[in-house]
Amino acid sequence: MVGSVLMQRLREENDFNGIEPVFFTTSQTGQAAPDVGQGASVLQDATDLSALAACDAIITCQGGDYTSEVYQPLRDKGWNGYWIDAASSLRMADDSIIVLDPVNRAQIDQGIEQGVKTFVGGNCTVSLMLLGLHGLFRENLIEWVSPMTYQAASGAGAKNMRELIAQMGSIHQSAQSLLDDPASAVLELDRTVAEHIRSDGYPTDQFGVPLAGSLIPWIDKAMPSGQSKEEWKAQVEANKILGRADSPVPIDGLCVRVGAMRCHSQAMTIKLKQDVSLETIGQLLDGANEWVSYVENDRDQSMQRLTPAEVTGTMNIPVGRVRELTMGKGYISAFTVGDQLLWGAAEPLRRMLAILKG
Ligand code: HSE
Repeated sequence: MVGSVLMQRLREENDFNGIEPVFFTTSQTGQAAPDVGQGASVLQDATDLSALAACDAIITCQGGDYTSEVYQPLRDKGWNGYWIDAASSLRMADDSIIVLDPVNRAQIDQGIEQGVKTFVGGNCTVSLMLLGLHGLFRENLIEWVSPMTYQAASGAGAKNMRELIAQMGSIHQSAQSLLDDPASAVLELDRTVAEHIRSDGYPTDQFGVPLAGSLIPWIDKAMPSGQSKEEWKAQVEANKILGRADSPVPIDGLCVRVGAMRCHSQAMTIKLKQDVSLETIGQLLDGANEWVSYVENDRDQSMQRLTPAEVTGTMNIPVGRVRELTMGKGYISAFTVGDQLLWGAAEPLRRMLAILKG
């Protein structure tokens, strides 16, 4: 799915101009490859190390298992090309850079100059948080941040997106006769839905538990710290991107799956290093990069602009709900939304390829 979004973005931005693409597959070797304006070709076997090694750069969204299978053997074979990856396997390796060029372009340029050959897209919530809070991180104003996430089904995969909609449909079906009857009691409707989402008739093969009509307060594996792996990634990856691994900004919170399709949202509690006026914070956040926009802490603006429904399928990163918390001076809240498949996954890779093309 990330691969499809990546292809769409590569075409939209004419990124195939000036390169000779070779398309690889793990399951459809020999079938027709996408024609990107350079004539017909066939899909190559993605485990064929010699064919891979003939490329100057490899960009892959196949996932961690594929990276683990192919990356090291390729390097061991002496391949010294650029590896651009979306999987987490190589993110924290000493010789890789996590790419989020609106935030760490200088680190990327320096890495290229110093011979770094492995560039990996960050975890989606990390990239979306750093883009949203770019202005505050850039001014080194953040002492710590606690992001509480509301993560979309897309982060779990294509089948999970389908299951979310199947769950919604299944709920509707279970309650249809009560919905159709305006005189039916709402508590009867509620009981019918509750019974249905707990029943065997409710589709949960992918998530294991209900998502529509519920939520899932755990994403990814458990870590010894008590964090989920998704939660663990926030601090380590963000600080690597910020070039602050030696003096990390504490970043920790709970990651929760909700019934959104492909936009991750995050509610953040931020401790600032100094007291800064809300007006200045708004100015720093707004336009810190081309995609972030500041939404006034206003009911209508927040409800219209700061939602998955509004942001889905776009590159926009709105950030709002900024206000002083009652905990005291320097404690502020913020809320941001971003498309998990675009800035959260495909876009940093596409842009890395464009940087290499020069
Ligand atoms: N781990 C993320 C999620 C997606 O489950 O939403 C990939 O970064």
